[in-house]
Amino acid sequence: MKTNIVLIPGDGIGPEIVSAAKKVLDRVCQKFGHDFQYREALLGGASIDACGIPLTDETIDAAKSADAVLMGSIGGDTATSPWYQLEPSKRPEAGLLRIRKELNLFANLRPAYLYSQLKDACPLRADIIGDGFDMLIMRELTGGLYFGERKTYEQDGLQTAIDTLSYNENEIRRIAVKGFEIARKRRKKVTSVDKANVLDSSRLWRKVVEEVAADYSDVELEHMLVDNCAMQLVRDPKQFDVILTENMFGDILSDEASMVTGSIGMLSSASLNETKFGLYEPSHGSAPDIAGQDKANPIATILSAAMLLRYSLDLDAEANAVEQAVQKVLENGWRTVDIMSDGCACVGTQKMGELIAEAI
Ligand code: IPM
Ligand code: MG
Repeated sequence: MKTNIVLIPGDGIGPEIVSAAKKVLDRVCQKFGHDFQYREALLGGASIDACGIPLTDETIDAAKSADAVLMGSIGGDTATSPWYQLEPSKRPEAGLLRIRKELNLFANLRPAYLYSQLKDACPLRADIIGDGFDMLIMRELTGGLYFGERKTYEQDGLQTAIDTLSYNENEIRRIAVKGFEIARKRRKKVTSVDKANVLDSSRLWRKVVEEVAADYSDVELEHMLVDNCAMQLVRDPKQFDVILTENMFGDILSDEASMVTGSIGMLSSASLNETKFGLYEPSHGSAPDIAGQDKANPIATILSAAMLLRYSLDLDAEANAVEQAVQKVLENGWRTVDIMSDGCACVGTQKMGELIAEAI
């Protein structure tokens, strides 16, 4: 298969983890006889440094003409990086939000899975972990507070700021459909998370999700308030299969879910639109404190590359091969420093990429 992939290394540890993931994709090509063409593009701080803005038309065009984008991470240390002296609309994160919007990537899939090899890293008690857990957060990514009208102004002599949380029924319907579709391929349960006891946007969310659920009688639907969900994630994470939620709640809950697995360095993500196109990136950030030191865990990016193979290229066997290679390398006792435990061998970013590539 001949395919065009845009690589966005980004900032911080981004270039290192993308380079490790590319080794794995190269191995997939060799083993399965594919031809992936790569093009690199800038985003975030790297784009600010080179072009003065966090996202250029060139990057948008490159992404639009590709089959998929594999991204590292963007952003720097907010206290010390000069990028954060810029006005908010010119900072690295603004580039990420705009590319999500430009490409209409409304569905963000964030799997949170406890690797049996990494049970020791899980901060929860053994009786809570049980046989482990496996959930997927389906986060709406192009609406809500992130994209509503916002401003900071003075009213009655007081500094005042406003952000707007709005959703229309179509925005809710299309993400709900994605949530139910994926639940059908998993354990057939959707937990729709909202704050319907307070917010109008959540009451509409609940109503539309129920309408969509009527077409999926084989999938169980439950509603959960977001504060309760935050609590349930640490009380009994096994209860969740697909968590379907709006942008801001999904941002917060996905960090919580990832930490419950004990290893934020392991969690992948896919951002999809209505077509096969997707942008794939690890769920974690750019970790500027360890950038350039070959310490970062590349597994989340490698697993994101596996999602790319599965969702954008329909290469299920290849995706499975990458996921199994990750398992095998963990079973053989190889670890990066963030998931290190007694009796294992600690390796750097590039070595971990090579080991996983070799295991395919
Ligand atoms: C994420 C990140 C982004 C978000 C930031 C970097 C803007 O936290 O992808 O979860 O809030 O969506
Ligand atoms: Mg986040």
